[in-house]
Amino acid sequence: MRVLLAGGAGYIGAHTAVALLEAGHDVLVVDDLSNSSAEAVARVEQLTGAKIPFLAADARDVDALTAFVRTHAPVDAVIHFAGLKAVGESVAEPVRYYDVNIGTSIAILKLMAAEGIPTIVFSSSATVYGAPETLPLSEESPTGIDLTNPYGKTKRMIEEILKDAAAADPALRAVSLRYFNPVGAHPSGRIGEDPAGVPNNLMPYVARVAVGALDRVGVFGDDYDTPDGTGQRDYIHVLDLAAGHVAALEHAREGYEIYNLGTGTPVTVLELIAAFERAAGKKIPREILPRRAGDVAASYCDPSKAQRELGWTATRTIDEACRDSWNWQSNNPNGYARA
Ligand code: NAD
Ligand code: UFG
Repeated sequence: MRVLLAGGAGYIGAHTAVALLEAGHDVLVVDDLSNSSAEAVARVEQLTGAKIPFLAADARDVDALTAFVRTHAPVDAVIHFAGLKAVGESVAEPVRYYDVNIGTSIAILKLMAAEGIPTIVFSSSATVYGAPETLPLSEESPTGIDLTNPYGKTKRMIEEILKDAAAADPALRAVSLRYFNPVGAHPSGRIGEDPAGVPNNLMPYVARVAVGALDRVGVFGDDYDTPDGTGQRDYIHVLDLAAGHVAALEHAREGYEIYNLGTGTPVTVLELIAAFERAAGKKIPREILPRRAGDVAASYCDPSKAQRELGWTATRTIDEACRDSWNWQSNNPNGYARA
């Protein structure tokens, strides 16, 4: 298949590009580089030996997308990673989040209809479940409970748009992948997560403390109803996540499907820090802080639908994720910009 990766220069997109190329597919990338670097695409080319057609453009620009796709026709599928993803920022700038996240999705669906591209795989998120009533979360679990931030609402709205589009067009193959917490990096240390500024997420924050760029990790609450009182999440290695995209593309059928992509195993904040200490061979200073607004105590999935229907299962451990994250961070202390 030839696959257009919208947002393909980003963290998950770049790792998925490697997995697709290794599986024998072709990729082309559109990305406006608002949260990434063209260097990531260059490194994917180095890792795989492939030449990747790249368009630096806003994925809301249907005309630019159309010209790009026609130049590289036939394109068989789109994986839609493009969008803004910072939860706190989405509360402060809701209109920008709705504009970019919904706007890119609409533009991509228009492009697909006009150019006869049948398949879309969309980056959704476990955030659509809101505050879970029961765990583990299955695809049947209710969504939208106490969804407090515009970022999560955009993901839920885009899922609904895809469902409606698939109901109206019997030829459309649409898949939403609900990622749990993506972590880790390519074992080569050449591509990885490179958040701008101070990281919001736990793993890149811990990695920056380990490399000496930040003083200590703030642990947001130790009084949750969890084994050690700190928040539990389902951390999935980005290589497992990338493999999940390949499986979803290869199994996509007419209609609309949703899959959880996670390990099913909850890990606490303190357990993750301990795993990183083992990987880096150094102590990670930490400080217990109050709970972070909007956080849930625990979130982890039942991944059995993806296993059953896609033949996919996450195989990598939190120790492997920490080892690969540390390898990336220590080899690229300043990310892509000044590696
Ligand atoms: P990322 O920011 O690294 O990747 C997103 C890419 O989209 C970036 O390269 C960015 O430059 C690009 N982009 C943003 N707006 C664009 C636009 N208008 N036109 C073209 N490109 C645009 O993030 P990621 O971690 O790789 O996440 C990929 C997707 O997965 C996102 O949709 C995100 O919401 C979703 N997701 C991420 C996580 C996570 O924790 N990383 C969890 C669940 C879901
Ligand atoms: N945490 C800390 N200190 C930090 C950062 C996080 O203790 O500096 C804790 C949080 O309280 C939480 C856990 O670490 O218990 C994980 O937090 P992250 O910010 O890494 O991840 P979240 O589960 O809050 O959210 C992430 C993405 C969302 C996505 C969600 C589900 O940021 O976009 O996973 O996929 F929606």
